[in-house]
Amino acid sequence: MNSYKITTLNDFVTLRQKDFPYAKGELSSLLHHIGTAAKIVNKKINKAGLVDIIGRSGEVNIQGENQQKLDVFADKVFINALLASGECCGVATEENQNEIVFTDKFARKGKYVVCMDPLDGSSNIDYNVSVGSIFSIYRRITPRGEKVTNEDFIQEGSKQVAAGYVIYGSSTMLVYTTGNGVNGFTLDPSIGEFCLSHPCMRTPDDGRIYSINEGNYIYFPSGIKKYIKYCQEKDEDTGRPYTSRYIGSLVSDFHRNLLMGGVFLYPQNENAPEGKLRLVYECNPIALIAEQSGGAASNGQERILNIIPGSLHQRSPFYAGSKNMIKKIEEFIA
Ligand code: AHG
Ligand code: MN
Ligand code: MN
Repeated sequence: MNSYKITTLNDFVTLRQKDFPYAKGELSSLLHHIGTAAKIVNKKINKAGLVDIIGRSGEVNIQGENQQKLDVFADKVFINALLASGECCGVATEENQNEIVFTDKFARKGKYVVCMDPLDGSSNIDYNVSVGSIFSIYRRITPRGEKVTNEDFIQEGSKQVAAGYVIYGSSTMLVYTTGNGVNGFTLDPSIGEFCLSHPCMRTPDDGRIYSINEGNYIYFPSGIKKYIKYCQEKDEDTGRPYTSRYIGSLVSDFHRNLLMGGVFLYPQNENAPEGKLRLVYECNPIALIAEQSGGAASNGQERILNIIPGSLHQRSPFYAGSKNMIKKIEEFIA
């Protein structure tokens, strides 16, 4: 390898622009701006404990969850970056009840809308555990120049033109897809650039890790209880018992399993009859990354990307990871 040659995120998205004959660089600009916002959020997270950024903001979001100060910070940073890109006409995020419609005359002409979980796993932030940001990009349905409406944001996941996540872990990485494979970039703090470190990411068809909050066991549907027992049984052919790993940060749990092979499960339970994770800005983007790396994502019955969302904050049971493991889970649920 030529150690003098680095490919930055910006170089890479510009190079890949030719994969989109209909686009004129707009998507590249949007991805550049997401990368910049991620660096700003990363800086702040790195200083948690030193500056007044840990703990609750005192507000409760639309989900009825306590907002952390960093939830609010990340939400503002990403929204401002998307507005500044000039290519985005509106944003929907976990932290806002309704979609935010950009009304200035440039943004109104933007081709894309973005759905985001600005800070995922935020309850972990006070304890120095990895967190993430998740994004999903759609082409707008309403004509350019008009104000975007709710229907622009609740499109079927298969309509995503790009999706990805940032993981603020032992290193900071940005992983994204434009429907043509998955690529990962690691932030080099010395030059402040995301550099291509994980080209063409592929997830193994089979894995040995299962990731689920087993504390909810008694509330799970019987198929999931049986699947957990299956994971714990001894079987040399399939390498069972499997290993259990659960951080409680979707991005981190999913990212580890993507690299190593495994499955992430968040089923419905008696306390959360629709599951916990949000279809539009958590499940869909992660599902696209899963599929584009050779894995799969399901709600237990059907492909996540085929579900037509009824509303912005709709929840869904969520299973994502190695494709043979997802198939097995669907069999147990059936
Ligand atoms: P968020 O911080 O955006 O609200 O998301 C938290 C999510 C997700 O990251 C994680 O997989 C899940 O909540 C963990 O839930 P439990 O604590 O119920 O296991
Ligand atoms: Mn989340
Ligand atoms: Mn969040």
